[in-house]
Amino acid sequence: MMYEPLEFSEADYPQVEYQRREQFWDPIRLAIFTLVIAAIIGIAIGIVTHFVVEDDKSFYYLASFQVTNIKYNENYGMRTSKEFTQRSLQIERMMSRIFQRSSGPLRFIKSHVIKISPDANGVTILTVLMFRYPSTGNAERIKTKIENILYQSLKTKQLPFTINKSSFTLTSIDNKKMRNLLNNRCGIRMTPSNMPLPAFTSTERIIQGRETSVEGEWPWQASLQLKGAGHQCGASLISNTWLLTAAHCFRRNKDPSQWIVTFGTTITSPIVRRSVGRIILHENYRRETNENDIALAQLTTRVEFSNVVQRVCLPDSSIKLPPKTSVFVTGFGSIVDDGPTQNNLRQARVETISTDVCNRKDVYDGLITSGMLCAGFMEGKVDACKGDSGGPLVYDNRDIWYIVGIVSWGQSCALPKKPGVYTKVSQYRGWIASKTGI
Ligand SMILES: *[C@@H]1O[C@H](CO)[C@@H](O)[C@H](O)[C@H]1NC(C)=O
Repeated sequence: MMYEPLEFSEADYPQVEYQRREQFWDPIRLAIFTLVIAAIIGIAIGIVTHFVVEDDKSFYYLASFQVTNIKYNENYGMRTSKEFTQRSLQIERMMSRIFQRSSGPLRFIKSHVIKISPDANGVTILTVLMFRYPSTGNAERIKTKIENILYQSLKTKQLPFTINKSSFTLTSIDNKKMRNLLNNRCGIRMTPSNMPLPAFTSTERIIQGRETSVEGEWPWQASLQLKGAGHQCGASLISNTWLLTAAHCFRRNKDPSQWIVTFGTTITSPIVRRSVGRIILHENYRRETNENDIALAQLTTRVEFSNVVQRVCLPDSSIKLPPKTSVFVTGFGSIVDDGPTQNNLRQARVETISTDVCNRKDVYDGLITSGMLCAGFMEGKVDACKGDSGGPLVYDNRDIWYIVGIVSWGQSCALPKKPGVYTKVSQYRGWIASKTGI
């Protein structure tokens, strides 16, 4: 059995029962209601107190400096290139070494390289630096502290790169500027207070997955819904107007006016809702073999990026993930074979499986073609399932998330030796560019 887009049944999430409203307020219900409200208020006070007691504030800076022992490579100009990614990671590690465990109340959170540009003496690095400091702090005085720590490190620490001290400049930027800097970049997850959301390291398992609790954890995840029939498929935001999904999601209905798209971690109370203006299926989608199971949907009006709605990065066509790379799949799909759609977004960590293994006689026996990617576990247990179709399989590289797969098919869900099969996005990078210009 292949994953079908959900059948045209009524949505399975809880429905409000209007006819019972009149007798709703009996004394016991009222007491329970009061208790629940009291508990919610209690928790809210707890959370507020926590933050007030912590009383730290975020301070953001834009740092620019020359590094004289790196030669410029033209691929540094492309943010998704391997060269830019590796260099940035090295620079970010060096920043951590410089600022971590500095004494006093200044806490280094992270750095994020924005740009590497050519320079007569090597390269110039532009990076965001994020710190926490007691809210009594003053951005200019903290700036002096940061500079002192850096200059001290240049003298005392063995650093892999030579920073030209006299080229170093530091500018304090506010929340909004920092948001804008990162908002026009893909694949970044932020909390509402503009702090980076850490990658989750625990083993979480959509079948045996865990519910996403934080809004903004997977800000590119969308729900594709058919009017009158509810959630059908997942999709991923790749620009202000374009979504990437699976072609098989539109097998029964290709009329854009019948579809809507929502964002947010629940289906019943979405943060943003949009109608669809255009659907583009891959010209060579083959329903019998699931080949080229990729499609694009364009929104009629653009969405604005925020910490809860954000686009995911498209990988370079050259990206190669070795087997057993950790990747995440997210969706509103069922958590048991043939079960109902979930109202809350779920996530699962799975691992890539090589095409050779996946094509073995006892696995998928040659059904995996060059445009497909297997991920899951050979022992089963953790997998995507019905209703997750079209949704993202993402890969984290220095806290930037790339969509490497689109949930496509699988034999049943989470069976041993039957891992999930995904459309390999890197294989279709050219096709996506040709249709969207992205
Ligand atoms: C260091 O930076 C300063 C200011 O940008 C520049 O004038 C100087 O030539 C640089 N020195 C080296 C060794 O690159």
